[in-house]
Amino acid sequence: MTITKCLFPVAGYGTRFLPATKSMPKEMLPIVNKPLVQYGVEEAIEAGMTTCAMVTGRGKRAIADHFDISYELEHQISGSGKEARLESIRSVLDKGVFTMVRQREMKGLGHAILTGQSLIGNEPFGVLLSDDLCINDGPGVLAQMAELFNQFRCSIVAIQEVPPEEVNKYGVIAGESLKDGIYRVDEMVEKPDPADAPSNLAIIGRYILTPDIFDIIRETRPGANGEIQLTDALQTQARRGCVMAYKFKGRRFDCGSVPGFVEATNYVYEHFYEED
Ligand code: UTP
Repeated sequence: MTITKCLFPVAGYGTRFLPATKSMPKEMLPIVNKPLVQYGVEEAIEAGMTTCAMVTGRGKRAIADHFDISYELEHQISGSGKEARLESIRSVLDKGVFTMVRQREMKGLGHAILTGQSLIGNEPFGVLLSDDLCINDGPGVLAQMAELFNQFRCSIVAIQEVPPEEVNKYGVIAGESLKDGIYRVDEMVEKPDPADAPSNLAIIGRYILTPDIFDIIRETRPGANGEIQLTDALQTQARRGCVMAYKFKGRRFDCGSVPGFVEATNYVYEHFYEED
């Protein structure tokens, strides 16, 4: 079964980057010369998820404009050496379809995903949080997870080991290890106190979700920070059926934080940037 849709919750305020994000979406901040959200879209398209469904909010129009042609600019630089700089975004626009819905109130990631239901319908889908930038040789993280979905046919979360004192920044899982890096989830907690955390296996911003998650989110009460937490809904899904966790291959940068953003910038500049 091919998963063809990926949801991008991009409605958050990005307060850790204020004042830069006062009028500019966090997802449009560039890592070197490409906005964060474009890295995410490229990863989704590579995984075969060519319908990119964006949950946006007020002040996020730049994202919709990025995934469209910019007629005047393109006409102006047509035929010049500068045109090559549009190559990556043109390739994304050729392969992808972009749909948008607005989240009117920022009530948390779970709520953002429920807002995206009208764009997804009743089928399994990917979720990509573009402030987690993942870089690796070989297939991207979503492609790795899509392959795993065909084995297990249930929701999958990407996980990574983090230092135990940092678990309070993440959703954390506990579960039975089935084979290298694959766990059947028993327990999930959002932002646990390090003393109470069930493990140091932290959920990062890549998911494959089965569509029953929408009804579960609808029943989920606000949790940590007063927000409707996807982790709480996934805990219910794990209890009722099955959720897998997958220690992905690759490197992840937390670009939602200033130190992670700077680290990613240096890494991409060093390893991928080519001056033209
Ligand atoms: P974060 O909490 O990391 O993003 O949410 P934020 O709120 O924008 O960042 P800070 O903490 O204020 O700096 C994780 C992801 O979920 C989206 C965000 O856009 C981000 O991609 N999100 C979060 C929504 O789309 N809607 C929400 O109500 C909350």
